[in-house]
Amino acid sequence: MFGTLASRELETARLSRDLGLSCGGFEDLGMRMEGENMVPHRGEGEGEQVTETEPFQQTQRFVVGYALTSKKKKSFLQPKLETLARRKGIYFVAIDLNRPLSEQGPFDVVLHKLLGKEWQDIIEDYQQNHPEVTVLDPPGEIQRIHNRQSMLQGLADLNLSDCSGSIFVPKQMVVLKDSASSADKVVEAGLKFPLVAKPLWIDGTAKSHQLFLAYDRFSLAELDPPIVLQEFVNHGGVLFKVFVVGDTIKVVRRLSLPNISNCEKGKVDGVFKFPRVSSAAASADNAELDPSVAELPPKPFLEALVKELRSLLGLRLFNIDMIREHGSNNVFYVIDINYFPGYAKMPDYEQVFVDFFHNMAQDKRRCK
Ligand SMILES: Nc1ncnc2c1ncn2[C@@H]1O[C@H](COP(=O)(O)OP(=O)(O)O)[C@@H](O)[C@H]1O
Ligand SMILES: [Mg+2]
Repeated sequence: MFGTLASRELETARLSRDLGLSCGGFEDLGMRMEGENMVPHRGEGEGEQVTETEPFQQTQRFVVGYALTSKKKKSFLQPKLETLARRKGIYFVAIDLNRPLSEQGPFDVVLHKLLGKEWQDIIEDYQQNHPEVTVLDPPGEIQRIHNRQSMLQGLADLNLSDCSGSIFVPKQMVVLKDSASSADKVVEAGLKFPLVAKPLWIDGTAKSHQLFLAYDRFSLAELDPPIVLQEFVNHGGVLFKVFVVGDTIKVVRRLSLPNISNCEKGKVDGVFKFPRVSSAAASADNAELDPSVAELPPKPFLEALVKELRSLLGLRLFNIDMIREHGSNNVFYVIDINYFPGYAKMPDYEQVFVDFFHNMAQDKRRCK
């Protein structure tokens, strides 16, 4: 699609230069900031040993069966989490994918993040036959956010109980085929360049996270549908990752793409490959940034937003990527939602999850 490898690298280099980034991500920006209301970032307590000092008093076990890829298991199920959980009588047990699920357990919770229709059918069938088990989360709802169009549907219509901020999604349209002829539709729909082109489906591959920036209508022909074309929103180079675990919300700041000036919009044309942003982005906690850009979203606003999102999405374990429109008074855009994200990057995630499961266990016992 973009010619030879060499020309592709050149494109990446051009994008990097134009956007002021290093090809490897954002590490080279070299900005530092001390924020007063920062959430401590990962690293605090890292490597910290949790030892079994308290006598183990638990009589009832709460069993969390998990079906995770080995990568997810490694990042999420760290020794500190397992130790803290065990103290509360919470045990993590691997689900054997080679055996029928109903022959395993009994489980109180099934925690899963596996792709594919086959797994979706297994887990739906299991939930029907075992309504007493909490499946985190329903596969149909997870599937909805694997499509970048349905992912953001309904968000702009949320009725928030807090007015300290407002929420939007960037104007976007889907191109299913023939991106060359989409140019007229883009203009008709009133979308303004530059546009971020994102693969429509998120399927766990690196390709589904490879984004492009298209500066002009002619460059659209170079893109591979199915894609979503989304207006680029200037946000001062800072992104907020809002992690949700049930009722708990934690926010971390990440460095993101810098603003694109009007002058640049007028001068530049073509399509540019994004560097791998989501995985490579650095924490913004120590960067020297304009406080109006770096200030965290107001807490009551986030609480109201997440409350609505939990019910709209029907999910309990997710995160949202949110940006503040540059120069605005807390006008936010949600640009991405992920199911069961990399929680190891969320401050204090071990304790948050232990509390989450512990509360579930208590609710279950009360019901009984
Ligand atoms: N509409 C947009 N406006 C400005 N920046 C964006 C927009 N969409 C994405 N980005 C930038 O690209 C990054 C990756 O986009 P995202 O939609 O989160 O895809 P991914 O699935 O790769 O995480 C974001 O973290 C942000 O830096
Ligand atoms: Mg993202």
